[in-house]
Amino acid sequence: MDVKKLAEEIKSSFQEELKNFENGNLNFEDLKNKFLGRKGLVADAFSQMRNFTDKALAGQILNSLKNELTEKVNSLTENTSSAKTKKLDLSLPGRKPNAGTLHVVTETQRQIEDIFFAMGFEMATGPQVETDFFNFESLNFPPDHPAREMHDTFFVEGDVLLRTHTSNVQIHAMKSQEPPVRVIAPGKCYRNDTPDATHSPVFQQIEALYVDKNVTFTELKGTLDAFVKALFGKATKTRFRPSFFPFTEPSAEVDVTCVVCKGKGCNVCKQTGWIEILGAGMVDPNVLEAVGYDSEIYSGYAFGLGIERVAMLKYGIPDLRLFFQNDIRFLKQF
Ligand code: DAH
Repeated sequence: MDVKKLAEEIKSSFQEELKNFENGNLNFEDLKNKFLGRKGLVADAFSQMRNFTDKALAGQILNSLKNELTEKVNSLTENTSSAKTKKLDLSLPGRKPNAGTLHVVTETQRQIEDIFFAMGFEMATGPQVETDFFNFESLNFPPDHPAREMHDTFFVEGDVLLRTHTSNVQIHAMKSQEPPVRVIAPGKCYRNDTPDATHSPVFQQIEALYVDKNVTFTELKGTLDAFVKALFGKATKTRFRPSFFPFTEPSAEVDVTCVVCKGKGCNVCKQTGWIEILGAGMVDPNVLEAVGYDSEIYSGYAFGLGIERVAMLKYGIPDLRLFFQNDIRFLKQF
């Protein structure tokens, strides 16, 4: 028996079966067992050792055959991810990677930002963990003033708290530069509210502040009018109602014509035709003085709006909690 010939036969038989494996007609285990298994062709060749005349040479040839086939078989497991599957079904549709999208609140925030950037506002930021001074005191909330009770504050320690609104950024912005100041400040705010359809202990606001010489209430009205038209459509109207905030005087609550019924009256606007979207006013002289601005020279306006509320109105979302539940079916609609 010629060991060289035998080795060649096994090799060419391996090539044949490799084709069958690649066509899906032979599975990996069967291929491996046929040649390298305990009762495989290579083991069988070794067992015929006594029939070969030059046993040392036969050992060498069979060993190198074994190594060669082992290497080939191993490379198959590396290259074929599902070496065990019988058939590769090329007609199966591919798996589509799940592309993420921006969260609808982020999307809304960016839309609002873009409108104000186009009007010349710059971005400002401030801390979410804040001191009483920036969140209340400097904004003209005197200690023990009842206006503080409108904010259900999370206290951290001493006079450190979680900011209840983005108005703290007004103070940081003014303290860090001289007028003119024209900024918007988006970010998270915290209040000790029980979650329901319109409340959440974490929510987002965008603050706006413009301080310069001769800033008037008329400019505030014009800016807000342009803003709501850009956001909700050209037909949207604004309405200012007198209100109170410690840091603005006069203060107003601003309504827009209902985005659902366009002012006719519906469930969303409780038949009034109007929807409140933000608080605004002329910066109180006490606030300007608290940051060292001369309130005889400078005046300004400010306003603050809830981003989730805008998103709910814009997209007809009935419950605030949907934003935080991470239900992909909800999120991927936007
Ligand atoms: N900070 C107020 C709030 O959270 C909203 C607000 C009202 C902001 C009037 C302002 C403003 O800048 O002028 O309820």
